[in-house]
Amino acid sequence: MSYKNLRIDYDDSFAIITINRPKKLNALNSETIQELHEAFEELDSEKETLVIVLTGSGEKAFVAGADISEFSDYTVDEGVQLAVKGHKILFDFIENLSTPVIAAINGFALGGGLELAMACHFRVASDNAKMGLPEVSLGLIPGYGGTQRLPQLIGKGRAMEMIMTASMINAEKALDYGLINHVVSQEELLDFSLEIAKKIANNSPVAIAHAIKVVNAGFKTNVNGYNSEIEAFGECFGTADFEEGTTAFLEKRKAEFPGE
Ligand code: COA
Repeated sequence: MSYKNLRIDYDDSFAIITINRPKKLNALNSETIQELHEAFEELDSEKETLVIVLTGSGEKAFVAGADISEFSDYTVDEGVQLAVKGHKILFDFIENLSTPVIAAINGFALGGGLELAMACHFRVASDNAKMGLPEVSLGLIPGYGGTQRLPQLIGKGRAMEMIMTASMINAEKALDYGLINHVVSQEELLDFSLEIAKKIANNSPVAIAHAIKVVNAGFKTNVNGYNSEIEAFGECFGTADFEEGTTAFLEKRKAEFPGE
């Protein structure tokens, strides 16, 4: 499948999605959001794709936010619908994807761009990256999960300050805050992300999918994360991956997981 605003590259068992609107600093217009949904859905259905890396084109921006030109005349109802649809087809969709998604933040990650990175399972950034939620400077609040995921990742006080001041933090501070896991040079960003992807790919895809689901369960209201863990833990014992993983260990060889 080909996309107007995205590029998909394959590297071994990994897919790299590059948001490709560099002249608009990869701002998320509705077409790009729809295409991202389709790309993630397609890649998640491919058994051979074990990890997805998400990045932005050019050297300046990961994503500089939702495309402000699209919603500047929206009504209250249209604003609600914009957020509802975005959560459903992109932000919650990525967070709950079975395939691990790494955000490789290669520059500005602002507003919807930082929210997109936070919906990914974890984040790596280049040393020129700048992150922030500047929505209050536009008379808005973050509407794609930023008010929830930022405090989860960095704590309430720091999130409040970032949201209220609309300020950006650099990669070093984001690392210190726990918003990102690693900082590397821009040249190294993709290779470094793929190195992590390789480590993930050594392990059972089925177990990883369960782990994603259960970690997320702990952040959902009305779901008991411990109960979800117990249930998923038990389900693992019925999988071919479990049989292969334990057999390989006892036979002192590397496991070749069937992904079932
Ligand atoms: N929506 C729509 N267009 C955007 C955009 C966004 N979120 N962010 C950047 N762009 C566009 C600019 O309008 C400009 O387009 P133009 O060349 O047709 O005028 C182009 O991308 C380049 O941006 P520019 O502002 O000229 O680059 P800069 O280096 O001077 O500043 C930023 C970079 C990121 C600081 C600045 O673009 C910015 O503040 N963007 C908005 C960030 C934001 O508020 N995001 C949250 C949205 S809810």
